[in-house]
Amino acid sequence: MIRFDSVSKRFPNGTTAVDDLSVEFSEGGITVLVGSSGCGKTTTLRMINRLVDPTAGTITLGGRDVRDLPAARLRRGIGYVIQQAGLFPHRTVLDNIATVPTLLGWGRRKARARAAELLEVVGLPADAGKRYPNQLSGGQQQRVGVARALAADPPVLLMDEPFGAVDPVVRALLQDELIRLQAELRKTIVFVTHDIDEAVRLGDQIAIFRTGGHMVQCAPPAELLARPADDFVAGFLGSERGLKLLSLVTLAGVPYEPVGSVRSTATVKEARDAAAGRWLLVVSPDGGPAGWLDTGALEGLPGTSAVAGLALAPARGLRDSDSLLSALNETVSSPAGVAVRVDAAGVVTGVTGQDVLHARQRSLT
Ligand SMILES: Nc1ncnc2c1ncn2[C@@H]1O[C@H](COP(=O)(O)OP(=O)(O)OP(=O)(O)O)[C@@H](O)[C@H]1O
Ligand SMILES: [Mg+2]
Repeated sequence: MIRFDSVSKRFPNGTTAVDDLSVEFSEGGITVLVGSSGCGKTTTLRMINRLVDPTAGTITLGGRDVRDLPAARLRRGIGYVIQQAGLFPHRTVLDNIATVPTLLGWGRRKARARAAELLEVVGLPADAGKRYPNQLSGGQQQRVGVARALAADPPVLLMDEPFGAVDPVVRALLQDELIRLQAELRKTIVFVTHDIDEAVRLGDQIAIFRTGGHMVQCAPPAELLARPADDFVAGFLGSERGLKLLSLVTLAGVPYEPVGSVRSTATVKEARDAAAGRWLLVVSPDGGPAGWLDTGALEGLPGTSAVAGLALAPARGLRDSDSLLSALNETVSSPAGVAVRVDAAGVVTGVTGQDVLHARQRSLT
């Protein structure tokens, strides 16, 4: 969709902001650009909508050289969201969102109707439309920025640290919203961030830049985490790279083994007979895990008394769609040291231990 061929940007003062960049940003996907300050991320974005022109190389959009399109027309097909939203302070929220449709000559009524529709799309209350940007929170302003960029329904969105100025909680919410929107809209998005966790969460692919405008690696998050091209990339991904990779991979196909268990309606004798070690899994009437029973607690109890009512340590059932990280978390938090697996209906199928999770992780790298 967006293709850079040997693109460089050298500013008149001699700074090389982008150096010989060749990369493709896939259609309908989110490409995240990350890297330290001044490594050329914003310049890369601005060359796509021609706010900056390259000094060498070619950029094509849907197969057409961006230089062959009049800049104004090109920009109509490209939404642009910047940090702190960049809203017009003296215009109402609705008029801010309607900016591009108005420029396109939609007529005031149609433009405002579209703006009102977008308020809802980005999760803002209808009454926010009449307010001015400074009467909204930072997170709400970011939403307005996204709505404004979406107004003319452009196929491409450029987002330059759009969530950089909000606190981590609001940031996570805005990320959720973007994931939800993108599942519907399937825009081609180029997203800049300093936050590697945000990149891993949002990106279909991540491009890592280093100072001097040099792209070091561009790959889907799991591949990047599993096989960083060099020490710079590994350093950028941080010391929890292994855990981040585990968070991206699901339990589908990871083997489990049978587990000794009793129903919560069982007697103490039945529990003693089923016990193979210290911890015994107790299963609810619906087939899901009720918890781990410390079989030490059975000592001295009459065989005919009921298991129900004895204290259980919590056990969470993990589905195939859960991540390896949540399974690993379960192995360290459960007293039995294993993760309980359940099928799609939530019925216990077996358990998986750390050695198996570790083997799966190794097979990815
Ligand atoms: N108009 C300009 N004239 C001269 N140098 C510029 C100009 N714009 C940017 N630069 C330089 O180009 C380099 C890349 O800038 P750019 O804004 O693309 O970096 P960035 O990766 O977006 O950084 P940040 O993470 O801080 O936003 C920097 O060294 C910057 O100082
Ligand atoms: Mg920048």
